[in-house]
Amino acid sequence: MKTFTFAAISSALAASVAASPSVAKRAIAPVTVKGNAFFAGDQRFYVRGVDYQPGGEADAKDPIADAANCKRDLEKFKDLGVNTIRVYTVDNTANHDECMNALADAGIYLALDVNTPKYSINRLEPEISYNKVYLQSLFATIDAFAKYDNTLLFFSGNEVINDDATTSCAPFVKATTRDMKSYINARNYRKIPVGYSAADVDSNRIEMADYMNCGPDAIRSDFFAFNDYSWCSPSSFKTSGWDKKVETFKDYSLPLFLSEFGCIKNPRDFGEIEALYGDDMTAVYSGGLVYEYSVEKEPKYGLVTIDGDSRTETEDFQLLKAAFAKSKAPTGDAGYKTNGQASNCPDKSTNWNVTIAADQLPALPPGTDEYFKNGAGTGPGLQGSGSQTAGSKTTNLSSAADGAVTSGAGTGAKPEGTKGAAASVHAPEFSLTPVVCGLVVLVSTLFGASLI
Ligand SMILES: *[C@@H]1O[C@H](CO)[C@@H](O)[C@H](O)[C@H]1NC(C)=O
Ligand SMILES: *[C@@H]1O[C@H](CO)[C@@H](O)[C@H](O)[C@H]1NC(C)=O
Repeated sequence: MKTFTFAAISSALAASVAASPSVAKRAIAPVTVKGNAFFAGDQRFYVRGVDYQPGGEADAKDPIADAANCKRDLEKFKDLGVNTIRVYTVDNTANHDECMNALADAGIYLALDVNTPKYSINRLEPEISYNKVYLQSLFATIDAFAKYDNTLLFFSGNEVINDDATTSCAPFVKATTRDMKSYINARNYRKIPVGYSAADVDSNRIEMADYMNCGPDAIRSDFFAFNDYSWCSPSSFKTSGWDKKVETFKDYSLPLFLSEFGCIKNPRDFGEIEALYGDDMTAVYSGGLVYEYSVEKEPKYGLVTIDGDSRTETEDFQLLKAAFAKSKAPTGDAGYKTNGQASNCPDKSTNWNVTIAADQLPALPPGTDEYFKNGAGTGPGLQGSGSQTAGSKTTNLSSAADGAVTSGAGTGAKPEGTKGAAASVHAPEFSLTPVVCGLVVLVSTLFGASLI
């Protein structure tokens, strides 16, 4: 019976790509942002999840297009007690209805990376890789997931900046974030939060967070996430230095969470879970995602070993399950802030090499506004020829919010024309500037680090 329903849904969607109301409504509340917190209905929402990408980096497959495998893993997600999975790569031509609906039925949300190995910002050549072909793929992914109430958020980039030299890529990540927010508004989708997932780099973490949260609303992120592997047992809130991070971010005005965590030196005992969901942190943090669900060739920090249809739990599985069970989310709103201010853009320094003025960004690539008006059309999937060389070495800069679409129903209603898009696109003043990104690339050992 389900199969039949899903087939009907997908043909209805094919007929009207943006017609979200035709998707069967699951009883899961879409998550919204208020102040520095997430909310599901009137309850604060804490990300309590795992990073999920079986096959890892070497074999970037879409894990939620395969409904049978998704449902096998879903049993483990339920047993662990998670409410969110993060997926790093999806095929924007695949149908995800069956997996997404099964997840929704289990109360589980999706935090989704919209970049793929071939369609992503190349930190060595951000100016060439930020282009119309790239954005079309991202927008097609938004089209594919905006219809699900359990799409929690979109990551506009993952670890593009992984040291101080590559901080010069930050404007391209911010421009991408602006463009995704514009697309969501222009297509009248629900206001699905968009933000960046930063690598575990101490030297520019705060600069990156501030940069993504400075300037007009049209270019600011809706949340900020970073990876943090610093808590290794035996440890504590103080020993780990997490107390200092809470202090650092106490006035940050956006929801903040860990997009990857879990010590990368065995043994792990997940002692940090108690802190993360406890009174010391929840006014400032909204939970996090454990790296990672499956044991891969490299690195081997999985909770289950996958072999065909079988799922074998590692020791970590029971430890994590017990840690989650012991640390429920706090009741009430945990003192979240409603009155936070946008951050100040960081000054250029030895750790922060952004030479583009704070009130400018790479301009929306020529022709991209067509997608705001007409939709992105069919995405390239994972087999397309890629976007990383589709642009130009010179980047046009514009006033940061030029061309951004800031109004949209935000209700998930069917789009009526493109009023928002047309109204707010005004002729930007370009300056031609060659922008060079850092040339030093440290290959991260963690999945999804480069996507190049
Ligand atoms: C900073 O970036 C500029 C170009 O954006 C580049 O020419 C310069 O070498 C970079 N400096 C460092 C220290 O990486
Ligand atoms: C830069 O702007 C000029 C003038 O509008 C345009 O012809 C050119 O295609 C733009 N280049 C890029 C890379 O956006």
